[in-house]
Amino acid sequence: MVEGKVVMISGGSRGLGAALARRLAGEGASVSLCSRGSESLDDLAGELISSGHDVLATSADVASESDVANWVTATLDRFGRVDSLINNASMLGPRCPIETYPPDAWRSVLSVNLTGAFLCARAVIPSLRESRGGMVHVSSGVGDHGRPFWGAYSASKNGLEALSEMLAGELADDGIRSNAVDPGKMRTEMRAAAYPDEDPMTLPMPRDVTDVFAYLVSDAGRAVTGQRFRAQEFVLPG
Ligand SMILES: NC(=O)c1ccc[n+]([C@@H]2O[C@H](COP(=O)([O-])OP(=O)(O)OC[C@H]3O[C@@H](n4cnc5c(N)ncnc54)[C@H](OP(=O)(O)O)[C@@H]3O)[C@@H](O)[C@H]2O)c1
Repeated sequence: MVEGKVVMISGGSRGLGAALARRLAGEGASVSLCSRGSESLDDLAGELISSGHDVLATSADVASESDVANWVTATLDRFGRVDSLINNASMLGPRCPIETYPPDAWRSVLSVNLTGAFLCARAVIPSLRESRGGMVHVSSGVGDHGRPFWGAYSASKNGLEALSEMLAGELADDGIRSNAVDPGKMRTEMRAAAYPDEDPMTLPMPRDVTDVFAYLVSDAGRAVTGQRFRAQEFVLPG
């Protein structure tokens, strides 16, 4: 049951973030979305609001500490609480040998995928302590090992999974959960950029991988922490 929960989703304007917004809002959650660009974010928020759902859209770059603070403040002003954070915003960056990996691109990818997730997690801990809520960190198939030629993206997702484990350990006594999910390949802009020769019609849609996220933000997932899930292999317990 996610009805009545307040869920923050970073990178909520398209792809998996948008699918999660539609799924969770459709099941009665209030959703607070952010992304850097506002056009598709506002379009999605308009679509959900016109269907009667409770949605807040905030333009924010997760790599910016002040943007993250503004997003959290706007969420609390609007909904009064936070039950879950889904750290989903991410960028791919170049895929090339480390020897030729551009340092500026390395810094950019880490600042969004890892530092951005850290900033969002850090900013919501006080609210999650009150709600005894949780965080879900969106990792990748390259997040549990160093994938050759995937550079900062693979490093950032490995760091994200370590961050998730740290948060689970540090916050267990507060009743705050932290888990990582590898969504697997999905038909999104990021996947098309990574595999331009692939036929997107062969890929699952982002909405097809949302079950594990709905479980983790629901009361059914209340005892689950410190774990790593593969979304496309997830079977609802019980
Ligand atoms: N697609 C796959 O096959 C696949 C596989 C494994 C893991 N993943 C992971 O799944 C998650 C979703 O991926 P996706 O394929 O849906 O990606 P996507 O289609 O590229 O969407 C990424 C989202 O993140 C936002 N974003 C990017 N940088 C941001 C920033 N600095 N601050 C705030 N928002 C930002 C984007 O909006 P703006 O550009 O407007 O900011 C967009 O809403 C990511 O964590 C990705 O690493 C994807």
